[in-house]
Amino acid sequence: MRIGILGSGRMADALGGRWAQAGHEVLVGGRSPERAKELALRIGSQHGTLQDAAEFGEVTLLAVSAEAADGVLRTVGAPDGSLAGRPLIDCTNSVDQRDLTLAEPAMAERISELSPGAAVVKAFNLAADPVWRSTPQTFEGRPLGVPLCGDDEAALVKVEELVRALGGEPVRAGGLARARLLEATAAFAIGIWFGGGDTRALFPPLAHAF
Ligand SMILES: NC(=O)c1ccc[n+]([C@@H]2O[C@H](COP(=O)([O-])OP(=O)(O)OC[C@H]3O[C@@H](n4cnc5c(N)ncnc54)[C@H](OP(=O)(O)O)[C@@H]3O)[C@@H](O)[C@H]2O)c1
Repeated sequence: MRIGILGSGRMADALGGRWAQAGHEVLVGGRSPERAKELALRIGSQHGTLQDAAEFGEVTLLAVSAEAADGVLRTVGAPDGSLAGRPLIDCTNSVDQRDLTLAEPAMAERISELSPGAAVVKAFNLAADPVWRSTPQTFEGRPLGVPLCGDDEAALVKVEELVRALGGEPVRAGGLARARLLEATAAFAIGIWFGGGDTRALFPPLAHAF
C-alpha cells in the first residue's frame, strides 16, 4: 500500500518504520525537509514535503501535534478536497498536559470537517510510540487490540490491514462520532499511567463485566 505520512516525529517514525518493514511504500512528509529526510533514511522510506505526502498516499496518516493539524491540513489543500476519496488516518491526541483533559474534544470530527470527502479513521491514538515500535506486538500473550472509529467501510478495511501489518488486532469501535470517546479514553488512560495505576485492571473480560 502507498502510505503518505504528514509529519516526521515519533509516530511517523514508529508507524512508518513498521509499515516500511512490512513492505508498504511509505513517504514521510514534513515541514522540515531535513527532518523528513533523516527519518526516511532511518526507516527506509521516501521523503518529501507535506504536499508530497498528501499526494503520494492511497492512505494518508496525519501524525502532527493536535495544535498543528488545522494548519497542516490547510497547507496540503484538504479543505479544497485534496484528500477526498481516500482514507485519512487520524492518530492525534489533543491532551492538555497541564491537567490531562482534552484541549479539543473532537479532533477526528474537526479533521473530517476540514477535509471534505476524505474517509477519516481514528486509529493508533491509544498506545504510545514505543508500543507501535515493539515486535512482536503481543503483550502478556495477547496481540494488541487497536480500536478504529470511522464511517467508511472501504477505509476501515484498509486501516485494518495496516493494523495487522504491525501485528495488532483491529477492534471496530463504531463510527466517527465515537472517535471523541477514543480521544477521551487516551487522555483518561494517560492520567492513570502518570498516576502509577494499571489500566489493564479497569476493563475485565465481558463475561465478568455484567
Ligand atoms: N508519541 C506518542 O506516543 C503518541 C501516541 C498516540 C498519539 N500520538 C499523537 O500523534 C501525533 C504526533 O505525535 P508525535 O509523538 O509523533 O509528535 P512529535 O514527535 O512531537 O512530532 C510532531 C510532528 O508535528 C510536526 N509539527 C508540529 N507543529 C507543526 C506545524 N505548525 N506545522 C507543521 N508540522 C508541525 C512536527 O514537525 P517538526 O519536526 O518540524 O517540528 C513533527 O513532525 C500527536 O497528535 C500526538 O498526540 C502520539
